[in-house]
Amino acid sequence: MKKIILLISGSGSNMVAIKEAIDIGIIKQTKISCVICNEPSASGIKKAQDLGLRTQILNHRDFASRELFDEELANKLDEFDPNLIILAGFMRILSEKFTARFKGKILNIHPSLLPKYPGLNTHEKALKNKDQEHGVTIHFVNEELDGGPVIAQGYLTIGESKDSEALRKRIHKIEHDLYPKIIDAVISNEIKLTPSGTFYKASCQHYIQRVFYAV
Ligand code: GRF
Repeated sequence: MKKIILLISGSGSNMVAIKEAIDIGIIKQTKISCVICNEPSASGIKKAQDLGLRTQILNHRDFASRELFDEELANKLDEFDPNLIILAGFMRILSEKFTARFKGKILNIHPSLLPKYPGLNTHEKALKNKDQEHGVTIHFVNEELDGGPVIAQGYLTIGESKDSEALRKRIHKIEHDLYPKIIDAVISNEIKLTPSGTFYKASCQHYIQRVFYAV
């Protein structure tokens, strides 16, 4: 059985989708060892508990520096010895020391077609720039914010609506479908990080192209 740890800061809808994907066998032979949240008021904590998941709160405000927080987080992760660390709406920049320690073992999902729009407010930026397409990127995490090697991208056509909340919901649908599939592929070594970038076994080479979603 493989072990994953989820790191969250907010509503945890990706966490719920990942748990469901484990339950129905989309992510195979895997258990969630713990959900760690840095934000005590996050609504995702109760959702995790309702799903029967073990939770831990590690409030970043209790630490004098980013490095000290990251060190404690790394120590906690080591206790669980996870095969993969999944950032699922984890709103913290991770230090270089941390990302180097877990190289190739941390995945993130970002709500834009990177390298477009790293950082926050991606839906608003896509709408403001009158983009025709918008989407999500799943990538390995390195020291660069939203900058690690890309694994997969899912995209939609924006259409006429200028409503960023509606767009956010459509993007979430892509996330909830694509993230579990990629987690399964990485945990079973069908996709992995190599010195020359992301490596795909034949069964996963369709992820080299962006995946279109009619959502
Ligand atoms: C998602 O849009 C994800 O791409 C970004 O943070 C958001 C988290 O949403 N990194 P949720 O907490 O999983 O609902």
